[in-house]
Amino acid sequence: MPAATASPPAATVVVDTGHTRYDIRIGEGLLDEPASWQGLPRAARALIVSNTAVAPLYAARLRTALGGAYAAVGLIELPDGEAHKDWPALNLIFDRLLADGADRDTVLFALGGGVVGDICGFAAACWMRGVPFVQVPTTLLAQVDSSVGGKTAINHPGGKNMIGAFWQPARVVCDLSTLATLPDRELRAGLAEVIKYGPIADAAFLDWIEANLDALLARDPAALAHAVRRSCEIKAAVVGQDEREAGLRAILNFGHTFGHAIEAGLGFGTWLHGEAVGCGMVLAAALSQRLGLVDAAFAARIERLVARARLPVQAPDLGPPDRWLELMRVDKKAQAGQIRFVLIDAPGHALLRPAPDDAVRAVLAAHTAPAA
Ligand code: NAD
Ligand code: GLY
Repeated sequence: MPAATASPPAATVVVDTGHTRYDIRIGEGLLDEPASWQGLPRAARALIVSNTAVAPLYAARLRTALGGAYAAVGLIELPDGEAHKDWPALNLIFDRLLADGADRDTVLFALGGGVVGDICGFAAACWMRGVPFVQVPTTLLAQVDSSVGGKTAINHPGGKNMIGAFWQPARVVCDLSTLATLPDRELRAGLAEVIKYGPIADAAFLDWIEANLDALLARDPAALAHAVRRSCEIKAAVVGQDEREAGLRAILNFGHTFGHAIEAGLGFGTWLHGEAVGCGMVLAAALSQRLGLVDAAFAARIERLVARARLPVQAPDLGPPDRWLELMRVDKKAQAGQIRFVLIDAPGHALLRPAPDDAVRAVLAAHTAPAA
């Protein structure tokens, strides 16, 4: 194993949607740097929204850092996990805002992974019809994807992220040093969303991920910094062109149509989101091959990479194939009951299109793990 390489200096990636513009700041130790928090919306009050796992690790530092800017900095610790990305957890935030006397200027800070970021962002979109919020992502998945781009949501038991809003953060602060405490399984789940950017948008990045996957798994600081930065650059470019997913932005959902069905079908939290996306990318690449868009070598390449990241490549048994189709018809990309998949037609290029049910059934039959 080569020696770890030092993390590069902090970087800034800008998201510019035309009507809103904000920084994604990426670097080691940014939580404690006063500059990370300068220039944010001013208010008397801030509320840190975190959870019972992340708050004990990082909330005190964030609270101290924000103390100079806000007279009152509250903290709410939500229950941890995807199973709590729901109405009761959302209401806990509103209850707390009411109890604290929060007003239209109150700024929310989402400290945690994608679950906290999505739910806090949705609370910010709703509270008094919208208050500013800042994303402080502490998982790899949240740093490379969910904290950027303004999709906020909670789950409905029947469908992933079904209730939500587009609500852009005022800033994203990715402190890479918070990844040190992330469990290995969560790091691997985050790698699924890193891998995603290669096939959909950047063939050279796909090559880079293949060459550097072992360094990423070993948490090499320079490799992680590059993966976060390049992922954010790609996502910022896509969101800048298509904030509301009128077209292009759908490519960011490569693997997600199958993935969301896995999450909802097994029950939220059974597989991690990144695990479901990893497997979903294998299925979507296989579907791309079956429809003649890519060759078998490309589909095998995606499967190999997902397997190397130690993510599942065999779909779980959700019951009969029509259960899959039923679940996927709930997907937000479906139109008039027709499921649309993000497929790859060349390394670094994706498109959105329907697929015949028989092709989907065949892919599932070829990739489903036999029931234990
Ligand atoms: P998560 O938020 O559940 O975090 C994973 C686990 O790691 C949790 O137990 C969390 O408490 C813990 N954790 C977080 N940071 C930690 C740290 N630094 N050290 C130790 N433990 C830490 O899961 P996730 O993978 O971050 O996010 C998944 C969610 O993101 C899903 O709900 C998914 O739908 C959503 N998502 C949203 C978007 C978007 O554009 N809004 C994009 C991708 C995913
Ligand atoms: N993660 C998909 C999107 O942000 O559009």
